[in-house]
Amino acid sequence: MHYLPLPPAVVPVVTIATIVLVILLAWASWQDPESLWAPGDLSRYHANIARCMSCHEAFRGPVTAKCIQCHSEAGFSGSSNAPAAVFHEEIMRLQHTCLSCHTEHRGAMAQITSSAAKNPHGEFVFTATGTRSCLACHVFEPTFGAQPTVIDNDIVRRVMAKGGGAHRHGHMVNCLQCHAR
Ligand code: HEC
Ligand code: HEC
Ligand code: HEC
Ligand code: HEC
Ligand code: HEC
Repeated sequence: MHYLPLPPAVVPVVTIATIVLVILLAWASWQDPESLWAPGDLSRYHANIARCMSCHEAFRGPVTAKCIQCHSEAGFSGSSNAPAAVFHEEIMRLQHTCLSCHTEHRGAMAQITSSAAKNPHGEFVFTATGTRSCLACHVFEPTFGAQPTVIDNDIVRRVMAKGGGAHRHGHMVNCLQCHAR
């Protein structure tokens, strides 16, 4: 096999084009690293974390060790969601990864817990009740595909009491059936 040498005029053109591209990328990353390199917007939970390196390690991607810097065992044991706390303390003790069940970069309003990804209520459930997370009203079983259970707490009791009889167990899952957003 013989390779044809490139015509001499092409070489500087390619070199210059490459240099220009590198400079443009460097400039754009410096101006707005988020939109250039991130695969999608962070969730509302993490939206105000400014540094990618809060979760990522160079050349390795997101790492559990970084998650734990903010979500410590102590933090979980102070959580109001007791089943979630016990469950996560065990995961940390066994040094399991967080990333088998949690994700990111799916957009500001996306759920980042795999089993919570399907929201039958729409955003309405948050605007109508002043809550920010599914976990305000639900416990999600760690098994995939399992339906979340509804917690018997003040927030849930308050919602169930509204609706003048329309809010009944098993009949109010689809809020938007009766409510305009
Ligand atoms: C709150 C933690 C968190 C922050 C902050 C964060 N990421 Fe991520 N990122 C993740 C998680 C978790 C994944 C894995 C998502 C998956 O595979 O489901 C990920 C995946 C990625 C990926 C896909 C490739 C890979 O490494 O898995 C890129 C690229 C990426 N992030 C870039 C960024 C950039 C750029 C920033 C800063 C603007 C950033 N991330 C900030 C958590 C974070
Ligand atoms: C810089 C601190 C910080 C880091 C690093 C961080 N988080 Fe968070 N995370 C937060 C804060 C703050 C919240 C919001 C808590 C709240 O709303 O009460 C949150 C919320 C969450 C939630 C709750 C979502 C819900 O439905 O309520 C999950 C799950 C979560 N983070 C997982 C992770 C994972 C996995 C990583 C590692 C990839 C990570 N976090 C890294 C600060 C952090
Ligand atoms: C086997 C799946 C699984 C793994 C692994 C996992 N999580 Fe979770 N996580 C969940 C589920 C399911 C929920 C919802 C919990 C509930 O309501 O009972 C949750 C909820 C959370 C919350 C919100 C808790 C609250 O009380 O508001 C945070 C924060 C969180 N996870 C962080 C982490 C971190 C950090 C790791 C790694 C150390 C991790 N998770 C590993 C499944 C998992
Ligand atoms: C079968 C119909 C129906 C479904 C489904 C339904 N609601 Fe309602 N809801 C009502 C009715 C009827 C009222 C009373 C309206 C009024 O008083 O003007 C009401 C009232 C409310 C109120 C009080 C509003 C106020 O201004 O006082 C809230 C909050 C509420 N619903 C939240 C929800 C949520 C969250 C869901 C889904 C988890 C849901 N509803 C599902 C019929 C429904
Ligand atoms: C303000 C409280 C509240 C919030 C927040 C909330 N839910 Fe619900 N959810 C309910 C109530 C109440 C029901 C109906 C329970 C019943 O019918 O007995 C329900 C039912 C469900 C069901 C059906 C369960 C079944 O057995 O059929 C799923 C799935 C669900 N919610 C997922 C979610 C997800 C995902 C989120 C977050 C995006 C979320 N919910 C946020 C109160 C809430």
